[in-house]
Amino acid sequence: MPAQNTPTSFGLVTRTFHWLTALLILTAIPLGLIANGIEPSPETIARKAQLFSLHKTLGIAAFLLGLSRILWALGQHRPVPLHPHRRVELTLAELVHWLLYLSLVMVPLTGWVHHAAVDGFAPILWPLGQGLPFVPKSEAVAGLAAGAHWVFSKLLIASVALHIAGALKHHLFDRDATLARMAFGTAAPEAPLPQGKRLAPLLLALGLYGAGTALALSMAPGPQPASAAPLTAATGGNWQVQSGTLDFTVAQMGAPVTGNFAGWSAEISYDETVTDGIAGKVVVTVDLASLALGSVTDQAKGPEFFDIAAHPAATFTADLKAGPQGLVAEGTLDLHGASVPVTLPFTLEIAGDSATMTGTASLDRRDFGIGAGYGDEETVGFAVEVKVALAATRL
Ligand code: HEM
Ligand code: HEM
Repeated sequence: MPAQNTPTSFGLVTRTFHWLTALLILTAIPLGLIANGIEPSPETIARKAQLFSLHKTLGIAAFLLGLSRILWALGQHRPVPLHPHRRVELTLAELVHWLLYLSLVMVPLTGWVHHAAVDGFAPILWPLGQGLPFVPKSEAVAGLAAGAHWVFSKLLIASVALHIAGALKHHLFDRDATLARMAFGTAAPEAPLPQGKRLAPLLLALGLYGAGTALALSMAPGPQPASAAPLTAATGGNWQVQSGTLDFTVAQMGAPVTGNFAGWSAEISYDETVTDGIAGKVVVTVDLASLALGSVTDQAKGPEFFDIAAHPAATFTADLKAGPQGLVAEGTLDLHGASVPVTLPFTLEIAGDSATMTGTASLDRRDFGIGAGYGDEETVGFAVEVKVALAATRL
């Protein structure tokens, strides 16, 4: 049994590649459709994530195998068609083959780019990391890649359906060796005439992919309206915040995921000459609608977690205390209808009238009744690390 193709038959390597990729693709498609169709709720979210993890993991295997298959095919004869005189059928079959080759690359690649551009949810199980070089964490990139993955996966599904229908037609109605050539390496009964290179099916396939790309571009979400209140200047106090970040990290499916609030303001009074005792006061107000948490932003804002419709803002009111152990902001965090004491140690550097501050605090989401339906840590961890950094100038 030859490893290489001959002018009348597919060799063992081509056939092994074909059936392995077929198996992976035919598993990845239903996994993607089923996982995407599951409405997220505390009962279903773990299952949705597991199916997506499997989908992505098998999809990447299909991608790497597909690339190897294409490299192999480049150095091979293509066995000549069995019915070279059936021009329309031949064009359609070759168009579908080109679409399948293009999809083998473009479908998993767009899925992978989408995954790499957002934070969190349903990790890839290969030890390849969750990001991709040259792919920034960006909602715009993620939206475009998700649209392309959706469109291209539909092109793939249509091509696979036509491809399988064609193979069955040859086997059941024409009763020829088309399927047996790919299944068992059977050689065509007689060598048909050699064919010249035919460009039209390739150009048609590229045209269809071009139209798919245009459709994905037109579906891409435009620039998001700034729902977040911009960082506002202090109305009281003696320091004005110029810039800053408010991030938090929580485990999702056991993997740390970082989100942030873009809209918050801080009113700070601080006297650096006090070295022991209360040196100032801070009131931080956070616009919870400004939350960004990768692919689960909307779910996090919804009733199961922050429930921003009922609790649009959070407030941290604290004394700034200096002492031998360093500086802490000690006060109360009002969030999601709960008032919980919070201590946030921070470091401060003052140069003339400019100050930079960084601080971290560890919270427990259960203290605030956030994600109460998620009673264990399998889906969302209990501990939430909050990190704040800001630069301020003296008023
Ligand atoms: C049950 C599913 C499938 C069956 C029965 C099947 C059957 C076949 C057959 C009989 C051929 C040979 C066609 C010929 O001689 O002209 C073929 C070729 C091909 N199949 Fe499939 N196939 C299946 C799934 C897939 C899938 C999922 C892919 C997706 C990537 C795929 C990609 C290809 C490609 C690219 C060729 C052309 C090979 C070449 O000439 O370079 N097939 N398939
Ligand atoms: C050959 C490989 C792949 C195939 C055939 C495939 C196919 C699909 C299909 C059919 C869907 C459902 C779309 C719908 O609901 O209509 C889907 C969704 C999805 N796939 Fe894939 N996929 C593949 C590889 C990948 C890879 C490698 C990744 C990531 C690493 C990925 C990530 C996703 C994601 C995140 C979604 C959900 C999209 C959304 O929420 O908008 N896929 N895929």
